[in-house]
Amino acid sequence: MATDLLPTYLHDYLDSLVPPRAPELQAMEAYAKQVNFPIIGPASGQLCYQVARMIGARRVFELGSGYGYSTAWFARAVQENGGGTVHHVVWDEELSRKARGHLGALGFEGLVEYHVAEAVETLRATPGPFDLIFNDIDKHAYPESLPVIAEKLRSGGVLIIDNMLWHGAIFDDGDHTLNTEGVREFTRRITNDAGWAASLIPVRDGLIVAYKK
Ligand SMILES: C[S@@+](CC[C@H](N)C(=O)[O-])C[C@H]1O[C@@H](n2cnc3c(N)ncnc32)[C@H](O)[C@@H]1O
Repeated sequence: MATDLLPTYLHDYLDSLVPPRAPELQAMEAYAKQVNFPIIGPASGQLCYQVARMIGARRVFELGSGYGYSTAWFARAVQENGGGTVHHVVWDEELSRKARGHLGALGFEGLVEYHVAEAVETLRATPGPFDLIFNDIDKHAYPESLPVIAEKLRSGGVLIIDNMLWHGAIFDDGDHTLNTEGVREFTRRITNDAGWAASLIPVRDGLIVAYKK
């Protein structure tokens, strides 16, 4: 599969515009590079943080949280918005344990609720409504997550969903793998649903930012 669609100079330029990060966050970025773990990275993280600040988000639900890098951006926004909860959900015990360490070291103790479970089922079982939902689970499961997200997000809330360019695979007419079809189908549904105002922002691997009317 191809890497990011953005030319390296543009990708690096966007990252260079993000203010310096805490050493712990920088260490998380270095670790992702070292082991090739797919974190959202600085430019997308900054965008997530900014949107969460803009809408004053205090109740955030994340699906597919890894070791807490994207969570850190949302937790900072929620802290600055006056406090609240970010739900961190991943089905891997070890990643959840790592996230607790990193997010504690970043000073987000008490702001994050951890779930080791399947993310869509966890969202279904968690009382809402949420101000912001972030989705970064396995891509084949994107379409089936949409009705649950729509039910749990408040009107005026924002959905951010990662990998909507899927490294260019969506443009390959011969690629009908489940993940690629999942990204295509999700994009079709949300951009054709009058209940949402959605835009695809081609930062890194593409984020759809969608406003629930
Ligand atoms: C792309 S990584 C998350 C990166 C994270 N959002 C970040 O930027 O720091 C997705 C993680 O969610 C897990 N995952 C994927 N689908 C999931 C699901 N349906 N339920 C729970 N965890 C899931 C994967 O195993 C992986 O650890």
